[in-house]
Amino acid sequence: MKILVTGGAGRTGRQLAGLLAAQGHQIRIFDLPFVDYTGLEQYEVAKGDLTDPATADTAVQGVDQVLHLAAILPPASERDRARTFAINVNATRYLCQAAKEHGAEIVFTSSVEVYGNSADLKPPVRVDYPRRPVNIYGESKVASEDALLASGAPSTILRISGIAVPAFLEPPRPWPFTADQRMEFVAVADVARAIAAAVTNRAARGKILHIAGGPTWQTTGREYVRRVYEAYSKAGLDLDEPGFLDKSETFDWYETAEAQALLGYQQTSFPQFLEQLEKSVEEALG
Ligand SMILES: NC(=O)c1ccc[n+]([C@@H]2O[C@H](COP(=O)([O-])OP(=O)(O)OC[C@H]3O[C@@H](n4cnc5c(N)ncnc54)[C@H](O)[C@@H]3O)[C@@H](O)[C@H]2O)c1
Repeated sequence: MKILVTGGAGRTGRQLAGLLAAQGHQIRIFDLPFVDYTGLEQYEVAKGDLTDPATADTAVQGVDQVLHLAAILPPASERDRARTFAINVNATRYLCQAAKEHGAEIVFTSSVEVYGNSADLKPPVRVDYPRRPVNIYGESKVASEDALLASGAPSTILRISGIAVPAFLEPPRPWPFTADQRMEFVAVADVARAIAAAVTNRAARGKILHIAGGPTWQTTGREYVRRVYEAYSKAGLDLDEPGFLDKSETFDWYETAEAQALLGYQQTSFPQFLEQLEKSVEEALG
């Protein structure tokens, strides 16, 4: 298949492109002109801004599948509502129109931020729980999902939880959850697996599915950070005391049985992720 990956130079897009190329697909990466394309030389690369409808149309020409990852994320998404909606919602609308015209299908990377604070609801969160976003980003993902469904383009919506990358990164300050709340992140490799599987599994078409790590990732904010910091410490780096939100904004435990049955993406347990993290911090420290 010929596959367009929007936001293909980003964290998840890069892993996804590698996975799909290894499966024999032809990849077109689309991203903004000024981002770093190092390591993507083996793919067809198209550069531009998807907030322009003609650009979005050209990007889709000749592909069978559109994997729409391009977006502006927090904290940048919270600075300018109009800009965030232009990038996250309008671009999605243009891509849907183009996909319909060119006969392509879409997999859209939504977010569990559509639920906002679900602490008062019974866990795990199901896809039919109310969407009550608490930030501009969450609102933009709700509007994007609606635009996608209204367009009538054949699509799959993946509501992805916080993506954990096993790399030596500056810990966020504060972490985007409270110490005591439920949370379930997912390894970036498993997110890429889920999106790639959604391309080929026709039974996923038309569904809204949760992409979260599974039972081994279901923990509290405090315990998650404790174990991540422990991995840093084992690798030889002791981090300062973590900071947490005072009030929960989003993140919870998610119902993933249907998504896992269809896409088989949960292949990295939290302990395995921590081992990968420890190794990559060790490597970064030399
Ligand atoms: N990172 C997370 O924790 C998380 C959680 C849930 C859902 N998601 C969703 O998954 C997708 C991928 O996230 P990621 O973490 O890889 O993000 P990322 O920021 O690494 O990648 C997004 C890419 O989109 C590109 N982009 C932004 N505006 C664009 C525009 N106007 N035209 C073309 N390209 C544009 C950026 O340059 C970037 O390379 C996003 O849709 C995001 O909303 C991410």
